Amino acid sequence: MLKGKDMLSIHDLTADDVEEILSLAAKLKALQKSGVPHRLLEGKTLGMIFEKSSTRTRVSFEVGMYQLGGSALFLSNRDLQLGRGEPIKDTARVLSRYLDGIMIRTFGHDRVLELAEYADIPIINGLTDLLHPCQVLTDLLTIIEHKGKNFNTLKMAYVGDGNNMTNSYLYGAAKVGMHLSVATPENYKPDRTVFNNALEDAKETGAVLEWTEDPIKAVECADIIATDTWASMGQEAEHDARKKIFAAYQVNRELLRHADKKAIVMHCLPAYRGEEITEEVFEANAHVIFDEAENRLHTQKAIMALVMGN
Ligand code: CP
Ligand code: NVA
Repeated sequence: MLKGKDMLSIHDLTADDVEEILSLAAKLKALQKSGVPHRLLEGKTLGMIFEKSSTRTRVSFEVGMYQLGGSALFLSNRDLQLGRGEPIKDTARVLSRYLDGIMIRTFGHDRVLELAEYADIPIINGLTDLLHPCQVLTDLLTIIEHKGKNFNTLKMAYVGDGNNMTNSYLYGAAKVGMHLSVATPENYKPDRTVFNNALEDAKETGAVLEWTEDPIKAVECADIIATDTWASMGQEAEHDARKKIFAAYQVNRELLRHADKKAIVMHCLPAYRGEEITEEVFEANAHVIFDEAENRLHTQKAIMALVMGN
């Protein structure tokens, strides 16, 4: 079903697509853990365009391709002619002649849309200012592992900046029918169009999606709490100002008193201890957070196998 398609946003996927990605990810994880080869992309090559930094995305996509029997090329903006002004639409048509798929991490979401429009190979969104779909699909796999797959019985709270992670959590929760309560300051809400699209998707699955300015209200009885940096890549100059604006949105022991006793805390990383999360809460949930980091590998292998496979 996903063969040959792009993976730009969870909103573009059907609920069945999400289910297919998550179940293949779990299968590939089990195969990899037991040392069984699963070379589903033998002889295929992924290009990885990075216009922003990355630790997890870069390493997990590259290792994922090797484990699937293919190879990956790291294409930094500093080296590509793209960085010197070659149009995206030309880059897309050239790279389509050499590669079997492209993963791109960049700033404006429009850059990914343009790449996808002109490329005739699958494009995978490795993060834009608007969305981070691979991370949120990964988080859904991690939630299944820690809380089971009855998403419609779970409440998730997101506390902090209404950023690319928040937007993708809205799309993800809507597709799987999970209750998601988002707490951000009034001026840092998630993207309005994304929220409206997600509410439309939620009608199909019964997901409850809500926004509040009050972090305590959001985490009330939550099973899962997620947060992310207060200053995303590209917002470094606002870091000090944001530290003050978001001070009441820290995930700390006091806030967690309002959540379910068995609540887990997730973080896509990199984490800034003492800002969006305390050292104490981070370390108490390190087993979940590093499963989440590991699951990037398995989830993205599933995505690549489905969109780039034969
Ligand atoms: N979570 C995540 O995408 O990490 P990187 O920025 O290191 O890729
Ligand atoms: N919101 C963060 C996510 C990093 C993986 C950023 O865009 O920098």
